[in-house]
Amino acid sequence: MKKQILFVCIIVLAAIIFSACKHELGVIEIPTPAPGSTGLTCSTDSVYFANDILPLINSGCAMSGCHDNITRKENVVLTSYATIIKYVSPGNAGNSKLYSVLNKSGGDRMPPPPNAAFTTAQKALIQKWINQGAKNNACDRCDTIDYKYSTAIKPLMQSKCQGCHNPSNLGGGIDLSTHAGTKVVADNGKLFGSINWVAGYSAMPKSSFKMPACEITQVKKWITAGAPNN
Ligand code: HEC
Repeated sequence: MKKQILFVCIIVLAAIIFSACKHELGVIEIPTPAPGSTGLTCSTDSVYFANDILPLINSGCAMSGCHDNITRKENVVLTSYATIIKYVSPGNAGNSKLYSVLNKSGGDRMPPPPNAAFTTAQKALIQKWINQGAKNNACDRCDTIDYKYSTAIKPLMQSKCQGCHNPSNLGGGIDLSTHAGTKVVADNGKLFGSINWVAGYSAMPKSSFKMPACEITQVKKWITAGAPNN
């Protein structure tokens, strides 16, 4: 009898240790079409899946422990167009789970507390993408001429990084929701090392595909200029 109890304890302990050690990551595949590689000019009134929606969902929903393809919380995986579209009724955001869960309260809200809720602007983006038909689209919006913090760098951080790097979810202790926090990693070399996937740095955005070369150049130019708050 005692042996059986011990056996059960060992199993339970092993399960706990195993679940706390999910070091492998669910990886977001590079979407086709890919952002920045299509040569397609972005229309200012359109929302694009690869450029706008997938990065937002990667950092807000598909992080490790949630809807990545390893954890599969509630059996929901949100790592590709094919898996995301299951929760969308194209043309009808009001009838789409991907959108409605953003506005729920308490623990039903996604991302659930203590994670920050999506901002009004982020919710509006998802709503608009769905209402525009929830297409699997991409375009080339990046221009290396612009590398100002306010118009180029901040929007990049907001869509690709901030979900995992904000005061309530400080990945690696790094806050990319403010200029000050971003400047810290710009100055110590970690920002460039991580987005350029340099050996010795953690590749960012985590568990996703590499940012288009044009966006990496924008960040590089901004860092070289001294990472100003311009
Ligand atoms: C899905 C969550 C997630 C996303 C998205 C993400 N990060 Fe991270 N990041 C983390 C976590 C967790 C760590 C700390 C653990 C590690 O280094 O992997 C980290 C670490 C870092 C580091 C420190 C790297 C080092 O080698 O010390 C930098 C810099 C960084 N992130 C920048 C970014 C930038 C820039 C983006 C957007 C382009 C981004 N992250 C997107 C989760 C994320």
